[in-house]
Amino acid sequence: MPTGAPHAAILGLGVHRAKRVVPNADVIAAIDSSDEWIQQRSGIKERRWVGPEETLESMALAACEQALAHADIDPAQIDAIVVATCTHTMQTPALAAKLAHLLGTQAPAAFDISAACAGFCHALSLGSDMVRAGTARHVLVVGAELLSEMTSKTDRSTAFIFGDGAGAVVVGPSETPGIGPVVWGSDGEQYDAIRQSTDWREVLADEHPVMPHIAMDGATVFRWASFEMAKVAAATLDRTGISVEDIDLFIPHQANMRIIDAMARAMKLPEHVRIARDIAEQGNTSAASVPLALGRMYEDGTAKSGDIALLIAFGAGLSYAAQVVRIP
Ligand SMILES: CC(C)(COP(=O)(O)OP(=O)(O)OC[C@H]1O[C@@H](n2cnc3c(N)ncnc32)[C@H](O)[C@@H]1OP(=O)(O)O)[C@@H](O)C(=O)NCCC(=O)NCCS
Repeated sequence: MPTGAPHAAILGLGVHRAKRVVPNADVIAAIDSSDEWIQQRSGIKERRWVGPEETLESMALAACEQALAHADIDPAQIDAIVVATCTHTMQTPALAAKLAHLLGTQAPAAFDISAACAGFCHALSLGSDMVRAGTARHVLVVGAELLSEMTSKTDRSTAFIFGDGAGAVVVGPSETPGIGPVVWGSDGEQYDAIRQSTDWREVLADEHPVMPHIAMDGATVFRWASFEMAKVAAATLDRTGISVEDIDLFIPHQANMRIIDAMARAMKLPEHVRIARDIAEQGNTSAASVPLALGRMYEDGTAKSGDIALLIAFGAGLSYAAQVVRIP
């Protein structure tokens, strides 16, 4: 049996924000909305959408290159690449395999996972388990989404929410704990509360086929996330053996500022805990949102190396995953 590392940790982080800044003013006409309504209900001021030269692949690649440089790890040292995404429009092959080739890695295990907005924290847990089990020494964990292409610009409950971007981390061996135990799960009873609007077969059967979009029962998702996810966050701290007093950063999936605030209130986060609020300028980037939010905290000095962060991601499924990590 392979022998794994005593612990796993995040060794480096990379992010790529789509280049085009799209203010609320640019999306309101098609949904009979207003800047004020969007800001009040979601906290979003603007979002990032891809420019003409950007693709899902180019954003993911940029984030991976940055993460490798930050970790000071050569691509040849990567044993596995796990990409969380729900907007890779090729059913097969996996985006991970293409990234492996573009990065110049040497035949790593390379696969994509589908857990929508909860994808990054699922993939991070897999990466951590692989390093500790000894099935990989260094794992590149990626969350990448090009949601603007799968957003209906006339759907009032989603047109203003989604954004594009990518984040990546290198997970590797550590002498001290760097990634805590995951708490994850799903509520299949609500499996279609967030969904692709149309099955590909139905799209093809249509006389005038259009790209499917992400559809959502906004109020259902809002209630579930606001009430249930704080319990998952508390369970994650319990399983890690720490309390809210011990964390420096709270980095939840950036779905809606009101959900973030509701969770922070329910968890009774102390004043010293810095809370990620990347959604205001980035929108909801699904599997990319947690690493992008961490990236912003790095950039503005809110997060420091060695900080302890509680990550929690949730979305379609309805699925969720959370863990405590040490910031590289
Ligand atoms: C989408 C969301 C912001 C909508 O907010 P909401 O408060 O639930 O809004 P509702 O659908 O209940 O509508 C409330 C009112 O606003 C109106 N409204 C809905 N969408 C609107 C829009 N885009 N602009 C202006 N008004 C809008 C409705 O018509 C309704 O009007 P009424 O009270 O006169 O009937 C909210 O449900 C949400 O954030 N849900 C979770 C989304 C999320 O996190 N998704 C990703 C999960 S991973």
